[in-house]
This record gives sequence, C-alpha cells and structure tokens, in this order.
Amino acid sequence: MPRIITLSHQKGGVGKTTLSLNLYHYFAKQNVRCGLVDSDPQGSITKLYERLGQQDSWGNINIIERKSFKKFEELEEHPDYDVFIIDTPPYLDTNLVEIYQSSDFVLIPCKCSPLDALAIEETIELVKQAQEVFKGLKAGIVINQAITGTDFTKQIRSLLSNYEFPVLDTEIGNRVAYSRSLFNSQSVFVEKNPKAAQEVAALAEEIISLLQS
Ligand SMILES: Nc1ncnc2c1ncn2[C@@H]1O[C@H](COP(=O)(O)OP(=O)(O)O)[C@@H](O)[C@H]1O
Ligand SMILES: [Mg+2]
Repeated sequence: MPRIITLSHQKGGVGKTTLSLNLYHYFAKQNVRCGLVDSDPQGSITKLYERLGQQDSWGNINIIERKSFKKFEELEEHPDYDVFIIDTPPYLDTNLVEIYQSSDFVLIPCKCSPLDALAIEETIELVKQAQEVFKGLKAGIVINQAITGTDFTKQIRSLLSNYEFPVLDTEIGNRVAYSRSLFNSQSVFVEKNPKAAQEVAALAEEIISLLQS
C-alpha cells in the first residue's frame, strides 16, 4: 500500500510546492514509484510544468492532477505506487480533511518567521480533527528558509515546540537553489546543490523514520 505524505499549511509562500517537488524527486531518483498529486485547483505544479517544463526534463515526472481521480481514498490502495506526495492549496478548505484522512503523514512547512509560526494553529486543529477519525495519521512541522548561524531559528523552533506535533530536526535553509531549480521545473538534485540535496534527503528520511516509529 502506498505511503501518502501531504504538505499542508493554510498560508501561501511557506514552501509546500517547493518541498513537494523536491521530496518527489528524492523518492523518484531512488526508483521508488512516486506520484506527485497536485490538489491545488490553481494547479501551480501543473502550471509550472506546462509553462516552463521541457519535454525531456519533465516527461517522466508523475504529476497526478486532481481531476484525474474522484476521491483521495482511491490513492490509498493504488497498486502502481509506493509513495504519493500531495501538495495542497494555500487556504483552509473542507477537502483538506478528506486529504488528511487518506494520508499517513502531514508535513507542515513553516517559514522561519513568528507570523508564519503562529499561523499554523488552524492547520494543526484540522489535522487533529482528522486524527480523531484516522488514529494512524502522523504529522510534523519543518522549519523552512531557516537562517543558519543565528539564534532566530532557535527562537522559532522554541515557539513551534508549543504545538502538539514534533518539530523535525531537519531544517531547510534559505537557499536560492530552491527557487532557481523551479525555473527548470526540477529539484535541487537536478540543480546539483549538495547542501540543499542533503537537507531534502534528511527531511525525507526523517519522515520515513517517523512513519515507522
Ligand atoms: N528553502 C527555500 N529557500 C529559498 N526560497 C524558497 C525556499 N522555499 C521556498 N522558497 C521560495 O518561496 C516562494 C514560495 O514557495 P512555495 O513553495 O510556492 O510556497 P507555497 O507552496 O507554500 O505557497 C517561492 O518563490 C519559492 O521559490
Ligand atoms: Mg504552492
């Protein structure tokens, strides 16, 4: 049965789409049968690939558009996949509960700022609602655009630790490679940025180990 990892945060601009793409590439490059589900009706991933993608570089990416299936639970037993990464829109909507209930892990990316750290409260409440229905659902917060070498990131971590979900040890740095790689509709692995690639690998492995714990 595929593992379903959903990236969610009610705010835009916190890194959901960027991290979805990079996690997808991390799994796909290891020949894990991975599907990238674009549940954003504005279809930002789909748009990105339509506008910028070149057939050669994105032809093999498995983007699954929302209109291609009826219910998220159809993904839960999909025989052709090992992992689904679901990118979600930047607002709270009723579909999210359905998505969460079909997920094994909800990753909440939080930009390294007090405003973003406080804004995750509603997303967390919604995940908790889904956990009442599906007890096996796990969740965690990842600090994105961390500013390394300052106490500021530690302050944000401490603020986030007040929520019930674990704050992952892995931090994603503020690196131009994450934005630049989107230009080529690709990931930091294709961009060949070793530090960023290491962070994404650590993030993926931490999620896997939390799923197994
Ligand atoms: N770790 C990072 N370092 C630098 N820029 C980042 C990072 N993560 C995201 N960004 C940039 O921030 C912007 C918002 O990211 P995006 O993934 O679209 O957020 P969301 O999907 O949550 O709305 C994009 O321009 C993206 O390139
Ligand atoms: Mg997005």
